[in-house]
Amino acid sequence: MTDKCRPIGFFDSGVGGISVLKTAHNLMPNENYIYYGDSKNAPYGQKSEEEIKQLSLDAGKVLFGYGVKAIVMACNTATSAAVKIMRQKYNIPVISMEPAVKPALDADGKVLVLATPATVSQSRYNVLLRRLHAGEKVINIGCGGLVELIEDGKTDAKTINRYLDGKLKVLGNEDISAVVLGCTHYSFVEQHIRQYMKENYNEGCKIFDGRQGTANQLKHILQNKDLVCYNAPSKVEFVTSGDPSTIQTYQELFDSF
Ligand code: DGL
Repeated sequence: MTDKCRPIGFFDSGVGGISVLKTAHNLMPNENYIYYGDSKNAPYGQKSEEEIKQLSLDAGKVLFGYGVKAIVMACNTATSAAVKIMRQKYNIPVISMEPAVKPALDADGKVLVLATPATVSQSRYNVLLRRLHAGEKVINIGCGGLVELIEDGKTDAKTINRYLDGKLKVLGNEDISAVVLGCTHYSFVEQHIRQYMKENYNEGCKIFDGRQGTANQLKHILQNKDLVCYNAPSKVEFVTSGDPSTIQTYQELFDSF
């Protein structure tokens, strides 16, 4: 394999980053990809910053072992805690993600950011909010428990609506015009969240996430570093720290997303 066609490594705590992988694959179908889902350690979003740092370094090591040419941290939680240390440790491009608050701020009413408890409490995210002068326009909700439902495949409308009923009660009558999906897992239940917001808050509520921005950034960096692979067909491979039989689920989620 030529240097340029080495795989691009993606990782997340579990299945969430597959939504980002699929977006990147749509944009760059000739690249080779390897996806590492750290399902054994999911969810990251309820762990300490130090634990998330260590898990991210471990995930980077697994991907590095596959000879990847770049690493995509397909996880907002891991980015918040560990992007700096990942860039110090690995001498290849490390692409990260953060909640897509910036484009959502154009909305007329308030912006609701749904992310993991770790992301909304970490300083990197709060620095971002200050930099964007988000002020009171942004309401953050740490969605403990939602990643677990998605990891367990409990993604039917009834289950997600019940979850949102409980979690969003605190919003009262707020006028929510935009929702930011600040965790890559949530893209797998985006349709339910969209419908719920329409029915309960605002018919025109818009949904934002960082998938396309991250894929565009990856492409830009590969072009700049002369690392684009033009060979077809490409290969997409999945590995997990969890039960190896779940690889089939990874593949199905990738195919159907
Ligand atoms: N999918 C990850 C994110 O974007 C985190 C999920 C977790 O809590 O493990 O933040």
